[in-house]
Amino acid sequence: MAKIAVVVGSTRDGSFNRALGALAVRALESQGAVVTDVDLASFDLPLYSAAIEADDFPADALRLKELFAAQDGLLFVSPEYNGSVSPLLKNAIDWASRPTGGESLVALNAYRGKASAVMSASVSPFGGLRGLMHLRQILSTIQTLVIPEQVLIPNAYAAFDDAGELKEALPASLVEMTAARLVAVAEALAA
Ligand SMILES: Cc1cc2nc3c(=O)[nH]c(=O)nc-3n(C[C@H](O)[C@H](O)[C@H](O)COP(=O)(O)O)c2cc1C
Repeated sequence: MAKIAVVVGSTRDGSFNRALGALAVRALESQGAVVTDVDLASFDLPLYSAAIEADDFPADALRLKELFAAQDGLLFVSPEYNGSVSPLLKNAIDWASRPTGGESLVALNAYRGKASAVMSASVSPFGGLRGLMHLRQILSTIQTLVIPEQVLIPNAYAAFDDAGELKEALPASLVEMTAARLVAVAEALAA
């Protein structure tokens, strides 16, 4: 059974990306995955700085890194901020990429050899596409295998009903398709 963490790059009440992340959690679980829904608000992560790292590696950065390392796959759901990923998410990804306990600089134990996938909900008509292009590049740089399926939810104000479900069948089916492929690739890589 694949272990997958879902990480959302917004902690805002009413966040469209949190709503999308909740649908992704359900879709992954329906594929038989053991899902950890990561709430970044529960991690006390300073803005990454090499000075902080050299002084004392933050306990919550290590906790996040170990959580990621224990997974077979990682699903990132990010708002688009000025054409890129949210700083909340980038900061979390960066902390978990750092070597600890004498590891090599390129050990990337939280990421290397894992499958990853990306999703975004945006208030714009473009659905966060530019942010996901950056996120794909980042996830490749840290040596995850990013699956080709992805989910973009444009015009997010109108995309969800009051129960948090996607109103349109096509994007809802893409959530299912992306979850299914992520579980399949994560299982294959872990075998
Ligand atoms: C600093 C900032 C930059 C933004 N830049 C973009 C952008 O480039 N493209 C876009 O589609 N939306 C942009 N937005 C709007 C976000 O899509 C919108 O705030 C969205 O609701 C954030 O996701 P959330 O609902 O999950 O919190 C930006 C918002 C902020 C605060």
